[in-house]
Amino acid sequence: MTGASSYNIKISAKITTDLSSLIKASKYSSFFIICDSNTLKYCLSELVMSCKPLKEAEVIELEPGEDSKELNVIANIWQTLTEFGADKSTLIVNLGGGVVSDAGGFAASTYKRGVDFVNVPTSLLAMADASVGGKNGINFSGLKNHIGTILQPKAVFINTGFLNTLPHRHVTNGFAEILKMALICDKKFFSKLSSVVITADFNDKSIIEQSVKLKAAVVKKDPAEKKFRKILNFGHTVGHALESLYLTKTNPLLHGEAIAVGMAIETYLSFLLKRITKKEMVQIINTITLNFDLPIIDENDLPVFYLYLKQDKKHRGGALMFALLKGMGKCDPEVPVTITQLEKAISYYNSDISNAAPIQ
Ligand SMILES: NC(=O)c1ccc[n+]([C@@H]2O[C@H](COP(=O)([O-])OP(=O)(O)OC[C@H]3O[C@@H](n4cnc5c(N)ncnc54)[C@H](O)[C@@H]3O)[C@@H](O)[C@H]2O)c1
Repeated sequence: MTGASSYNIKISAKITTDLSSLIKASKYSSFFIICDSNTLKYCLSELVMSCKPLKEAEVIELEPGEDSKELNVIANIWQTLTEFGADKSTLIVNLGGGVVSDAGGFAASTYKRGVDFVNVPTSLLAMADASVGGKNGINFSGLKNHIGTILQPKAVFINTGFLNTLPHRHVTNGFAEILKMALICDKKFFSKLSSVVITADFNDKSIIEQSVKLKAAVVKKDPAEKKFRKILNFGHTVGHALESLYLTKTNPLLHGEAIAVGMAIETYLSFLLKRITKKEMVQIINTITLNFDLPIIDENDLPVFYLYLKQDKKHRGGALMFALLKGMGKCDPEVPVTITQLEKAISYYNSDISNAAPIQ
């Protein structure tokens, strides 16, 4: 799939051929592959065996999970690049889920003021969303994606074959961002998704392709996120606050799971502000709960949750700003919401939506 963005996004079982061609066409001095221990185990040999130049690559292995988006991990990547003499003509290959593409993209975009990188996503969430768009965020001071850069990868190579080893919970997790893309951009796509139950062997290339195409189109229109691109944050204002809250707990929510809760609450907000009908709200909530359990937000956690929520990058001058739906398949990037409306939405979520109880 080319042309949807200013750089190549390829969905193919032969990504290594495409990657080899990109490498041949450029004059890179050295190669580094950033992965985590799971993608090292399940995906690295397939990539390296069939892409000759990468046999020379140094491999930088991260711990799996959100903790690898911390500044000390990025510093270790910079340190390794420095020790191995990486110069401005280095290519970094991010082989992994959204954590690897965020951390690797951030390290690449800051090392020597930026070196080239490509993303080879291996999780559903990274294939359908995180690997595309050039946002490279890391967590700081307990806040999700608080520090980051916007720098586009040279290319994105998607091989859905990597999904074969992805655990079921992570497959479902990735589906949240696909649902979001449909809700904000494509009503017909949302109807198609509304009966999809995600199984461990999910591997629907057409669904992944549509999600990537929609995201690339939004990014192309507003790459620097001046305004329009903020629609991609639907579900994320609440979702990121929850994710930050749960980072400190023993069983943290995955990104997509937090976004599922965020979408449910922000769908209710869209209804409260008369932007969608009750029927549409019910349809959306029922679609989310088909694949996601929606936990109650503990009353005791609410003060901290609101503190995190106020850190959202969309808010301006103390006013809370949300990306909210405007009918099915459409979204506005900056809608003011009062604290009272938000409290009403949280309270409605806890009493009528959470625990996966379908609402009538
Ligand atoms: N930059 C963006 O635009 C953007 C968009 C959405 C989400 N994100 C970020 O993405 C992150 C979440 O991404 P994620 O859900 O991919 O998490 P992840 O990178 O932690 O991957 C999920 C788990 O699956 C494992 N894994 C990945 N591929 C595998 C494979 N093929 N086989 C077996 N195991 C595999 C990983 O090791 C990890 O344990 C969050 O930090 C979120 O903030 C970024």
